[in-house]
Amino acid sequence: MKHIITTAVAATSLFLLLLQSVTATTTLPSDVSALKAIKSAINPTTIPSYSCLATWNFTSDPCSNPHITHFLCGLTCTNNRVTQLTFDRVGYSGTLSPLVSQLTQLVTIDLSDNKLSGPIPSSLFSLPNLQTLNLRSNSFSGAIPPTISNLKNIETLDMSHNSLSGSLPDTSTSLTLTRLDLSFNKLTGPIPKLAPNLIELAIKSNSISGFLPKTSFTELTQLEVIELSNNSLTGTIPGWVFLQTSIQQINLANNKFTGLEILKPAGSNNNNVIAVDAGYNKISGHLTANFTAFPSLSSLSLSYNKLQGPIPVEYSKKTSLKRLFLDGNYLNGVPPEGFFSGKFSGSLGDNCLKSCPASSELCLKSQKPTSICRQAYGGKVCVKPKA
Ligand SMILES: *[C@@H]1O[C@H](CO)[C@@H](O)[C@H](O)[C@H]1NC(C)=O
Ligand SMILES: *[C@@H]1O[C@H](CO)[C@@H](O)[C@H](O)[C@H]1NC(C)=O
Ligand SMILES: *[C@@H]1O[C@H](CO)[C@@H](O)[C@H](O)[C@H]1NC(C)=O
Repeated sequence: MKHIITTAVAATSLFLLLLQSVTATTTLPSDVSALKAIKSAINPTTIPSYSCLATWNFTSDPCSNPHITHFLCGLTCTNNRVTQLTFDRVGYSGTLSPLVSQLTQLVTIDLSDNKLSGPIPSSLFSLPNLQTLNLRSNSFSGAIPPTISNLKNIETLDMSHNSLSGSLPDTSTSLTLTRLDLSFNKLTGPIPKLAPNLIELAIKSNSISGFLPKTSFTELTQLEVIELSNNSLTGTIPGWVFLQTSIQQINLANNKFTGLEILKPAGSNNNNVIAVDAGYNKISGHLTANFTAFPSLSSLSLSYNKLQGPIPVEYSKKTSLKRLFLDGNYLNGVPPEGFFSGKFSGSLGDNCLKSCPASSELCLKSQKPTSICRQAYGGKVCVKPKA
């Protein structure tokens, strides 16, 4: 009798245990249907047998453990909800199903380095808990949906290396966004207002145009990196860009800037600029010594612009400066002695300098022919610089 009771109790607890584990992990049906839609939108011929998506077999439950043969990877669950969607980088092609928005507990989406194409579904931007969206290196096209500002918890947004077109999204109401990378797309138009807590902004290699608008940047007190190279930005590079106290790296190379304003930072510990690249623009005028007032400046490139006049001697005395690229301008005069102590790397070549010592790495590239320099200076080879 006692034996029977013990067995019955044991059986009941086993049953309860099973019931508990089943109820705890059975995936919410709307998550299962979303996963089915996501898999069906992928071209089956691009799902290799060794890939994560090949293990997505809906005869078993996606979130239920143990995962021995099915749902081995590509998703992570917390209890009965999918919280991460992370495709392996095997070259899946197809589209991203709009039903992804049913996975309302998603925190991370990483579909990078595949061949997904078609539009980015606007429903994606209604996911309330999404913190990381990485669609980098795919073939997504069309406009970036304007609903992007609905992502209330987004921190990292990487849609670089796709074929997205149209204008840049307004992220100004997103208080959580710290990293935005839209580089290597086909985006056009001006820079809109930006998310106020951005730390890194990268929109290189697009076709964005217009001036650098101060209103887009004024609230960005945490911004450390501006990467806007290889676009069609115009006008004068404004002095405020370099004076935001958090800013460290600024790359504006390969645009259509025609001028450069460099204001001296107030107070020598009030500025963290380390690297500036404004090469391959159309900047004319004299090379200002003002850059040497930046306490941490270590790397400066103004290569291939239209700068004239002498190189201010302050540059050769600037101890923080390690890399200096001034090649491809019309700088003239005798370069300061201090450059040739071996402390600097970079180039002073392809200018109109007199006696750039061939023994120095900085002078490996030869100077411009006299005729070109004479033309640049309106007939006179040597012009007395303005004070
Ligand atoms: C799913 O798994 C079952 C066994 O659990 C198997 O019979 C079936 O062929 C699988 N389906 C696919 C599409 O791989
Ligand atoms: C500049 O951007 C264009 C597309 O806008 C791209 O084709 C080209 O490779 C980029 N060049 C560099 C040096 O990144
Ligand atoms: C250099 O800095 C001073 C003071 O900040 C400023 O008045 C001047 O215009 C600057 N020069 C250039 C070329 O930006």
